[in-house]
Amino acid sequence: MNFEKLYETIFVRKSVRKFSDQLLDNEKLTFIRNAFNGTRPFLPSIDIDLKIVPRNSVKGLLMVKAPHYLLFFSENKPGYLLNTGFILQQIDLFLSSVGLGSCWLGLTKPKKVFPETSSLEFVIALATGNPEENLYRKNISEFNRKPLEQIRKGDKFEDIIEAARLAPSATNSQPWFFITNNNSIHCYCIKPGLLKRIIYKKMNKIDMGISLCHLWLAALNKKFGINFHTDPDAKRNSPDDYYYVKSILLKQ
Ligand SMILES: Cc1cc2nc3c(=O)[nH]c(=O)nc-3n(C[C@H](O)[C@H](O)[C@H](O)COP(=O)(O)O)c2cc1C
Repeated sequence: MNFEKLYETIFVRKSVRKFSDQLLDNEKLTFIRNAFNGTRPFLPSIDIDLKIVPRNSVKGLLMVKAPHYLLFFSENKPGYLLNTGFILQQIDLFLSSVGLGSCWLGLTKPKKVFPETSSLEFVIALATGNPEENLYRKNISEFNRKPLEQIRKGDKFEDIIEAARLAPSATNSQPWFFITNNNSIHCYCIKPGLLKRIIYKKMNKIDMGISLCHLWLAALNKKFGINFHTDPDAKRNSPDDYYYVKSILLKQ
């Protein structure tokens, strides 16, 4: 996987919801499968799988119509949703970087009759195919995102946090908050209110995995040594209404 190219794609990507009906040829589908095999996991001990299926194998509310759907399966272990976001965002960026459309789909599921269902748990889908709308944004102002000041405290690692700021999230809720100090970025997620908890609890964790992927790609680009870890002090000092997710230690 060309992580440098994925990093560059962060600044132009967008969700694509209009696709050509034309099926991708086997060579392209193999290219996507090989890219999946080249992704970096956040938690390597969690067993995962990806299946690429046609439209008649999925169902769901407000479904984006595409010729192919990527179905992500995982063991249900602690951290599996973060791991899902981290891995599948590499595929979202990869698809965009090779000229294919991509859209995360939180409400699309494999049909029960789906014959090859893996023994792992289905987590989430991505739609893909040839785009029939603009694939890229022209500049950063086209991203509908919270300003940097609303999502971070501390003024270190601004260009790394900028990459996380542009990450996609379910209903564009952007649940993240970052606190920086001399050598670390501490990552937090908003606690959803009672009503939103049912939908957002799962999606917010995937969103956090996506933002960690963008932080990681940006830190790689800036040639930092990166170590994800849990920092008990950062956890204890979580901002009001946020829960602690992870810390990233950055070494130059
Ligand atoms: C976990 C997740 C689930 C999503 N589910 C859907 C969905 O069901 N339908 C849809 O049209 N878009 C879905 N999206 C796309 C978001 O709406 C989109 O990423 C967000 O509005 C930001 O826009 P952008 O991706 O064009 O930058 C989802 C995104 C994420 C990260």
